[in-house]
Amino acid sequence: MAAFFAALFSYTIPLRNISAPSFDLTFEIKTQWDITDWTINEARRDSATAFNGIAGPSTVVGDFDISARFCTPSKLTERAETVLVMTHGLGADKTYWDPTFAGGEQYSLIQAALAAGYSVFHYDRLGTGQSTKADPHSVVQFPIQVEILASLTRLLLAPSSPYTLDVSIASAVHFGHSYGSYITAALASAYPELTQAISLSGYSGIFDFFNILIAGWQSRVAALLDSARWGHLQTGYVTPVDIYADAYLEFKSPYFDHTVAEWASSVKSPYAVGELATLGQRPYDTSNFNKPVQVFQGRYDLSACGGNCDGVLNRTALLWPKASPLNITGTFPAGHSVNLHHNATQAFSVMLDFVGRNI
Ligand SMILES: *[C@@H]1O[C@H](CO)[C@@H](O)[C@H](O)[C@H]1NC(C)=O
Ligand SMILES: *[C@@H]1O[C@H](CO)[C@@H](O)[C@H](O)[C@H]1NC(C)=O
Ligand SMILES: *[C@@H]1O[C@H](CO)[C@@H](O)[C@H](O)[C@H]1NC(C)=O
Ligand SMILES: *[C@@H]1O[C@H](CO)[C@@H](O)[C@H](O)[C@H]1NC(C)=O
Repeated sequence: MAAFFAALFSYTIPLRNISAPSFDLTFEIKTQWDITDWTINEARRDSATAFNGIAGPSTVVGDFDISARFCTPSKLTERAETVLVMTHGLGADKTYWDPTFAGGEQYSLIQAALAAGYSVFHYDRLGTGQSTKADPHSVVQFPIQVEILASLTRLLLAPSSPYTLDVSIASAVHFGHSYGSYITAALASAYPELTQAISLSGYSGIFDFFNILIAGWQSRVAALLDSARWGHLQTGYVTPVDIYADAYLEFKSPYFDHTVAEWASSVKSPYAVGELATLGQRPYDTSNFNKPVQVFQGRYDLSACGGNCDGVLNRTALLWPKASPLNITGTFPAGHSVNLHHNATQAFSVMLDFVGRNI
């Protein structure tokens, strides 16, 4: 889509010997009965104390192939030496950032970023899209995703990187959506030297509303739900039961087109149950991060704000006391998948303006 004004480079990055803390889980998802019971355990009102699914700490080491794409404006300016590194959320893949349907440009943060002069990098998180489908219980967990993002960033910043089309990348800014925002926040906490600024959406840092997400999602074992599409996946890969349960999380009427939600469903990538089970289990301390932080929220975000961000995001601010500046916006009329709602280009202007002012 961007071929007229950008150079694009798609590839697979072989990451080897990547290690991270991990968790042994108390449960295993093999059948639809298993995931239904897991949903009850995670959604019940006392789930915070009654069920966490963690048996104990462990470590994971693995080799992973990560499908990714680097894009840079064909007319290079100094801005192109900054790469925006984008991490998508649960159930999506890297196309979240550059929708592939006809007319998708207006929903593409990548097209907007290229037009603004930046280089961009987006990738399929481990377990999604065309990246390695590792064990969804013991391997595809939160901390390894953080280590993968750190490794990818180091490769982009390396002198003579083979992954940047000969553009010498001087700095990285990280964008996250939803689960990808939690990964991005953790990267900023653990490896602040790897990023110059972060921009988060589908994020509040508050887990109080995950019960209604999990209850409404009604996840199913993907391989059993649709064997033609997902029969190759292990049973710990799960996905919302149908397009409407999916839209319940991602979209808010009347601020989106149903055809866009249908596209999002058509590119669905089931999520690994180990990812949700381990989110928040190893806290990353965001309180010392002293670089620019933007939180750009759809006002009606279900999982981050319980469907209404008014009066919630002041708690988000408490998580980033040293961010400089901290810019939190919670009024954009959208649900969770901000980029796929009407007037997304206005959201992109604000996000990219924040980068431009602060880098
Ligand atoms: C793998 O990484 C660990 C450190 O994380 C290191 O001790 C070990 O030597 C590495 N193994 C290989 C084969 O590179
Ligand atoms: C956030 O704002 C709400 C509504 O104005 C208020 O009730 C709440 O006490 C505030 N919380 C914090 C942590 O400031
Ligand atoms: C937002 O999008 C809707 C639907 O496309 C449109 O009617 C409306 O004018 C837009 N709002 C602004 C402020 O551009
Ligand atoms: C937040 O950032 C946007 C984009 O740079 C800017 O327009 C807005 O004024 C900022 N808000 C605050 C409160 O600084």
